[in-house]
Amino acid sequence: MTDTTPTNVQKSAPSRAQPGPTAAGSSPADATERSESPVVQLGQHPAATHLIAHLSDTHFLGTASDGSGRLLYDAVDTDSTVHRAMAQLEASGLPIDALVFTGDIADRGEPDAYRRVRDIVEASTARMGAELVWVMGNHDERQAFRTELLRVEAHDAPVDAVIDLNGLRLVTLDTTVPGYHHGEITAGQLAWLAEVLSEPAEHGSLLALHHPPVPTALPLMTILELREQAALAAVLAGTDVRAILGGHLHYATTGLFAGIPVSVAAATCYTIDVAAPPRQLTGVDGGQSINLVHVYADQVVHSTVPLGAFDVVTRFDPAYLARMEALSAPDRLEAFSRHTV
Ligand SMILES: [Fe+2]
Ligand SMILES: [Fe+2]
Repeated sequence: MTDTTPTNVQKSAPSRAQPGPTAAGSSPADATERSESPVVQLGQHPAATHLIAHLSDTHFLGTASDGSGRLLYDAVDTDSTVHRAMAQLEASGLPIDALVFTGDIADRGEPDAYRRVRDIVEASTARMGAELVWVMGNHDERQAFRTELLRVEAHDAPVDAVIDLNGLRLVTLDTTVPGYHHGEITAGQLAWLAEVLSEPAEHGSLLALHHPPVPTALPLMTILELREQAALAAVLAGTDVRAILGGHLHYATTGLFAGIPVSVAAATCYTIDVAAPPRQLTGVDGGQSINLVHVYADQVVHSTVPLGAFDVVTRFDPAYLARMEALSAPDRLEAFSRHTV
């Protein structure tokens, strides 16, 4: 048994300015500002307590002589979709607490690949005032992952961590097996995880790992699944883990593991066609997406955001919302719910 030496990083997310009222008549340029929590609760659920951007499988290759990233499979521009994801998140102005990348950050563990993706993501994350969390994947190399992404000393132990996001505990677990693409969790890691989860956190916990503990209908991917999942289920039983975030599959999917919802974010690099004909494993340069994870008091909601520039066909601006907020609840139904045609 190889004992884990968890990083055990305990960090707190940057404090956020208290939300205030949104000025009516905001211009589109205001979209670059962080959006504010609604002044008026319009529905039955209070606003989310935390918001996390969940990205996965960037698969950067090393840098070519002209400074650009080498194309994955000589076809996929891995950098452009990460730029695109960061641009979309920044433009949203959403109050994102953390960006979580669930592994396969570099395709071959090359240090310059890590530096390139880091330089794109770190600057953008800093502008958003969010925490940045990197999780190991089977394509990653622990030494370069540590030195280039985490900026800590190189060593070979699993990269596990605990991050405090204003009372929401985010635990990252390194499910990689050096030299292989399938996933495992060592007995040492399980013992560490049990100890971490032995006391509940204020807002509960999220677990982020690369190999998701859900079935896949793609036969070849089952060879690369997380092994001995029952041992993980035994550790998670009765804990405050509210959701599991994963990657690896390159398509967005959900499942339930030991009673805990699992959400897999598709890749930013290329996606795997889960609707491909039987017995095939097909990757395509399209359908890239990221997830937004809204953490509410009583549930966690995962929403997929396609990456791309799309034509706007309809929009209600913040001034319209402000007018709705100013109405009584019955008048709101008349103004916005009643069929107009
Ligand atoms: Fe991957
Ligand atoms: Fe993977």
